[in-house]
Amino acid sequence: MTVPPEFTAPKIAAGLPSGLPAPTDEQLAQLASSSAALQALLRARGGWLPFDDYLQQLLYAPGLGYYSAGAAKFGAAGDFVTAPEVSPLFGHCIARQCAPLLGAGSALLELGAGSGALAETLLRKLSQLQALPRHYYILEVSADLRERQRARLATLPAELLARVQWLDALPAQGVRGVVLANEVADALPFQCFAATDAGFLERGVRLDAAGKLAWAERPARAELQRELERLAAELPAGFAPGFQGELCTRIDPWIASLAALLDEGMLLLFDYGLGRSELYHPQRSAGTLRCHYRHRAHDDPFLYPGLQDVSAWVDFTRIAEAASAADLEVAGYCTQAAFLLSSGIEQEFLEAPDGAQRARLSAQARELLMPGEMGETFKAMALTRGITQPLTGFGLQDLRRLL
Ligand SMILES: C[S@@+](CC[C@H](N)C(=O)[O-])C[C@H]1O[C@@H](n2cnc3c(N)ncnc32)[C@H](O)[C@@H]1O
Repeated sequence: MTVPPEFTAPKIAAGLPSGLPAPTDEQLAQLASSSAALQALLRARGGWLPFDDYLQQLLYAPGLGYYSAGAAKFGAAGDFVTAPEVSPLFGHCIARQCAPLLGAGSALLELGAGSGALAETLLRKLSQLQALPRHYYILEVSADLRERQRARLATLPAELLARVQWLDALPAQGVRGVVLANEVADALPFQCFAATDAGFLERGVRLDAAGKLAWAERPARAELQRELERLAAELPAGFAPGFQGELCTRIDPWIASLAALLDEGMLLLFDYGLGRSELYHPQRSAGTLRCHYRHRAHDDPFLYPGLQDVSAWVDFTRIAEAASAADLEVAGYCTQAAFLLSSGIEQEFLEAPDGAQRARLSAQARELLMPGEMGETFKAMALTRGITQPLTGFGLQDLRRLL
């Protein structure tokens, strides 16, 4: 098994932002507000927060959290780049896969639409393929991103924009069509744990003697302890003492709520992650938690609270289990590269109007497809209900045996 380069990169020392760009004055002001809110929350909660509660505040506190406040986040001026920001090729291939499931009376619901890049690309391409859904719903938890999406999509032709509707909650009626989430599962708050000879510890957050945010471990609460024992029993090597990792139990109700919504069609997910036995392989005994700040990755979630993204790799086995429990079929699981190649990325090149455009697309495709970039680390998963159409995007590779 090859370990992605990110995991062998030297750690930066906690509290030493070596190699990281300094925050601007405006960011320092946000950092001060975000840190003060976290300290107040910690005091109110008796001095210790489970890591998922910390993340909820860190990422989504209204006006303060990383996703809720005004940080650039995506693209060259932000902290990280997502596939829809890299290239419209990503959205074009998704449109090709989704087109047979859309059309009159259908809906496409995009969760966590980021800058709106994917929505814009999809609507334009689906129009070209004559497969526009009746509704293009967006459910976005960040008010700041919602405004950015509105501004971006305002440039769409009126007949496309008229289909877009922002929702505050999942729609009340069922959806026939597609529910789509790119890099949303990894943005759900997750718990952290450590295995010891004496059982599992839950890794949480406290203020140290100097009033700084720091790790603090407690014996895992009964529910978490049971869940970790269940996972350990499934793993060939269990969790050896010293293993530190993450798990996201919020995945279960999230998938259940999406499954309940889907009358007929497909839930299509893209994210970085692995099946459970690879994710919790002894080679990953330090876990997969990563922070992204201005295109640098490091592993200190207490640095720059509110200014940096904090996420962990997704356990695709957990998603598949939650889907099966909710009567969805796990209809496809493959690498992002395999999905894009199966969904006609080459055809997109052939359709490019000239050599200059082909050269641009070729550089973008490398980033989406190459194993050292997004091609293998990112996976595509299709969870379906009641459809007979073949899923073209999953025709080239079937990794379901790894779940
Ligand atoms: C890493 S960003 C990805 C953005 C976009 N999908 C892309 O690929 O560029 C995560 C997105 O998910 C949103 N988000 C997080 N939790 C969510 C939830 N429970 N429901 C809907 N959106 C959510 C965030 O606000 C943000 O827009």
